[in-house]
Order: sequence, then C-alpha cells, then structure tokens
Amino acid sequence: MSHTLYAKIIDALVEDGYIIIENALNPTFPQSLREFLRDERAFKKAGVSSYPHVRIDRKRRRDKTCWLEEDGAIMSDYLAFMAELQHNINRDLFMGLSYYESHFAIYDRGDFYETHYDAFKGFKNRVVTTVYYLNKGYKEGEDGGELIIYDENNNMIQKVFPHANTLVVFLSDKFPHEVLPAKKKRYSIAGWFRVDKF
Ligand code: OGA
Ligand code: MN
Repeated sequence: MSHTLYAKIIDALVEDGYIIIENALNPTFPQSLREFLRDERAFKKAGVSSYPHVRIDRKRRRDKTCWLEEDGAIMSDYLAFMAELQHNINRDLFMGLSYYESHFAIYDRGDFYETHYDAFKGFKNRVVTTVYYLNKGYKEGEDGGELIIYDENNNMIQKVFPHANTLVVFLSDKFPHEVLPAKKKRYSIAGWFRVDKF
C-alpha cells in the first residue's frame, strides 16, 4: 500500500482531525469483502453504549453488526492495511495505539444511527475511527445512508456518500456523527484504534 496514503491520512489527522478518501484502497476490496460477508446469519442487532453493557435501542440505532476476525485472505489484506496505518500513526504522532477492533455493519432499508461520539472525552479507549464502505453502484440522492460529520458545536462539516472504496478516518472523541436512514441496503466496516483492549 502506498506510503503517500498513510502520510495523507496522518497530515489530515493533524490538520483537521478527519479525512475522507474516495477510491482509497485496492479497488477489488469492496467486492471481495462483500462476498466474504454473504452469510448474514452471523450478524446481530447492534447495541448502543459500550462494553460490557450492550443495549439494543431501535430508536437510536438499527444496524446489524459482525466483528471482524483475521480468517481469510481478504480479511488479512484489509487488516494488514490497518496494522500498517496504526504503525505509521504511532511512529509519526506518538499516539500509542495498541489495538484495532472492527466490525461489518449492514443497514437495511430504513436503518439509521443517530448522532453519537465513538469515544467520550477523558475515556481514552477508542482514539481513531475508520469507516470503509462497500456499496458498489451507490446512487447519491437516492440510496440514503449518508454519514454526516459534525464539529464539536454540532455544525455539520461533511456529508459522506458511502460509495464502495471510500475510507473515512477521524479522531474518535472530536466528531459527533450520524448515519441517515438508508434507502437501500448499506454495507460498511467500522473500526477503532484503541490504546487499551477494553
Ligand atoms: C459506527 C458509525 C458510521 C457509518 O458504527 O459507530 O458511526 O457510516 N458508523 O457506518
Ligand atoms: Mn460511530
């Protein structure tokens, strides 16, 4: 994977705290990852609030998720990119990221995730968030499921269309964000670099 991509992400984390990159990774990744997760029985209703008190609240969040494990070539390739990103961030920014966890998420038509932070100030567990999209043929203005990123005063700063191979990276405790209702089935992989395991 190109060094310039890691450098670009790191520069953006320093400058703005977030970055949205279209056509970010190997263009074959989204399709391979979609095929890999064809078995939706492994997916469970996602919870809100954090481990160990997982709660299911359909008013706040409706997606289904499945934790990623390194069990297959495509998963290894994807996680290898994230491992290298972790290494680069630690080397350049001394963030001490020690662990990466990630899950696939499926939003059915009508599913959404209301505005939230991935980490609360003072609780340095999730430090950097990644979201990677797998929606080939996504139609802007029709398919819904946009990711809206806000600043700390809740002003909208970005609207992200979840096109296949778009990667979003942001500081987990700086940006409230939400997923608008999907109008078509929506596939993504969300992940978090942490400074501890739990
Ligand atoms: C999350 C999340 C965003 C997205 O899972 O915490 O904010 O666009 N996902 O899927
Ligand atoms: Mn989130």
